[in-house]
Amino acid sequence: MGDVMIAVEKIKEGVVIDHIPAGKGISLLTLLGCSSHSKNVALLLNANSGEFGKKDILKISGRELSQEELSIVSLLAPCATVNIISHGEVVKKFRPELPDVLRVGSCPNPKCITKIEGAEEFLKEGNEYRCKYCERLFSPEELVSS
Ligand code: CTP
Ligand code: ZN
Repeated sequence: MGDVMIAVEKIKEGVVIDHIPAGKGISLLTLLGCSSHSKNVALLLNANSGEFGKKDILKISGRELSQEELSIVSLLAPCATVNIISHGEVVKKFRPELPDVLRVGSCPNPKCITKIEGAEEFLKEGNEYRCKYCERLFSPEELVSS
């Protein structure tokens, strides 16, 4: 018998973050969970995907994502697709872009002043981010996972 996919119902209003690389869904849920006001969340792990082999899918019902949350998605899962659902239909589909200025995440440098001040700010340089305070360069993933 082949794989049986667990069905997760379609949502009426909300956001579906699709094509999350398999294994990153839980981290993404955790990172978004901090600012989540909704309890209506479904996470599918290792769903079949033609493009990636396996993927995770996160469905958040009843609300949209803030700019800050979208930047978290772009940092952790740049190839994810964000689907805005309204009246049961996908009304918008996009890849979240890496922001030019990032005010989420924390500086991986243990000696950075932002550890004390809590005033994280990173400026985009190519595909990396430079801490405004200690001036070190970090990959997007380093910033969200530190
Ligand atoms: N979805 C949902 N509830 C809806 C509509 C869609 O949960 N009311 C989910 C689908 O299950 C899918 C994602 O949102 O995981 C995107 O839906 P859709 O664009 O219809 O799927 P695909 O065409 O397969 O998307 P893509 O081309 O981006 O792979
Ligand atoms: Zn720093």
